[in-house]
Amino acid sequence: MNVAIMGHGVVGSGVAEILINHNGLISEKIHDEINVKSILDLRDFPSLSYADKFTKNFEDILNDDSIKVVAEVMGGVNPAYDFVKKCLLSGKSVVTSNKELVAVKGAELIKIAKENNVNFLFEASVGGGIPVLRPMTQCLSANQIKEFWGILNGTTNFILNKMIVDNMSFADALKLAQDNGYAEKDPTADIEGHDACRKVCILATLAFGKHVYPEQVKTAGISNISLDDVYAADNLGCVIKLIGHAKLLENGKISAEVRPTVVTRSNMLSHVDGVFNAILIDGDQTGEVMFYGKGAGKEATASAVVADIIDCAKHINSRKYLDWADGYEGYVVNTSENEEKMFVRITGDDFSAITDIFNKQFASLTENITKNEFSKEICFITKPIVLSILKEKLAEFKNCEVKILHTIF
Ligand code: HSE
Repeated sequence: MNVAIMGHGVVGSGVAEILINHNGLISEKIHDEINVKSILDLRDFPSLSYADKFTKNFEDILNDDSIKVVAEVMGGVNPAYDFVKKCLLSGKSVVTSNKELVAVKGAELIKIAKENNVNFLFEASVGGGIPVLRPMTQCLSANQIKEFWGILNGTTNFILNKMIVDNMSFADALKLAQDNGYAEKDPTADIEGHDACRKVCILATLAFGKHVYPEQVKTAGISNISLDDVYAADNLGCVIKLIGHAKLLENGKISAEVRPTVVTRSNMLSHVDGVFNAILIDGDQTGEVMFYGKGAGKEATASAVVADIIDCAKHINSRKYLDWADGYEGYVVNTSENEEKMFVRITGDDFSAITDIFNKQFASLTENITKNEFSKEICFITKPIVLSILKEKLAEFKNCEVKILHTIF
């Protein structure tokens, strides 16, 4: 069984190493020998023991009929989309870890794979090494998925954790995440929530059946989360996590979003630290099921890519079905009119004025309060309230810094 790898970065080199170092183990599983025939990359790697396998020309892979499975681990939509499409059209199965490609072009690529009787698999695109897409679509297939929540980005979870546990600055923590191979080439995609948004799109599409596009998912990252926010949440027995969430609504539409969220310590997601990710899925028959493991990094992600290669090799003449219909405008609705508990921090110079307004506006609306005269701050969690009503009430705090974060409990 000849396979090719497109891209020899963090994940691609991991895929090559597993396929070569675990060759015996993998060959036993598929009752055939897996052979890495070509690796596409524009760079040279003369010191590698498999340096002779590299090509700079995509056509070498496309035109090689002996290559049956291709792993796309280049990242980004272009030229990955063009290359993947051509491989599928020429009868090669493709596996990918490329979240952006799947989130943006998934419906089309699955359709092309189906028409050409080949497979397009992407387990590594969500949760790195965590098996989640296959369990959700196969093991939970007797369920109507009602809702899911996830810590879906290893880099931001690692940064938030380093800031609070090791007192590390945001910049140092990001540098360490990059050195460990967790971050995207442009870490803005991690920090601003776009990477987690793509994963929400993939999960929501597979959970609810219709393509959710990144521009439909309201997304906020962690760039405006300060250590003060982290400490204030800590005082209320909570942690701040970047959470992706989607929910099936009664009218058949869904809500979906990514945002920094205050999570109480009694929630399992609050204990997911460092590069680890977790996805909590609520099925109507199973109730909540949680998937946990390393969400980023070379070996973990490559493990999921290689598992897809093995699956393709085992099913070379048959198809693995994934239900992925086109989406439509208006399918994902805005949830800002839902009643939710909110985490509020109010900081200002005149602490007694803040306290007076607070007592008038919020005393009956809060569950948890911390007042800190020293830092001139009141911090609390509201009872469920609609965001626009909360903002109206907060309008009285003139000349104060007011910060609102959503919560999950
Ligand atoms: N940059 C991504 C993360 C890589 O940090 O989660 C895994 O998708």
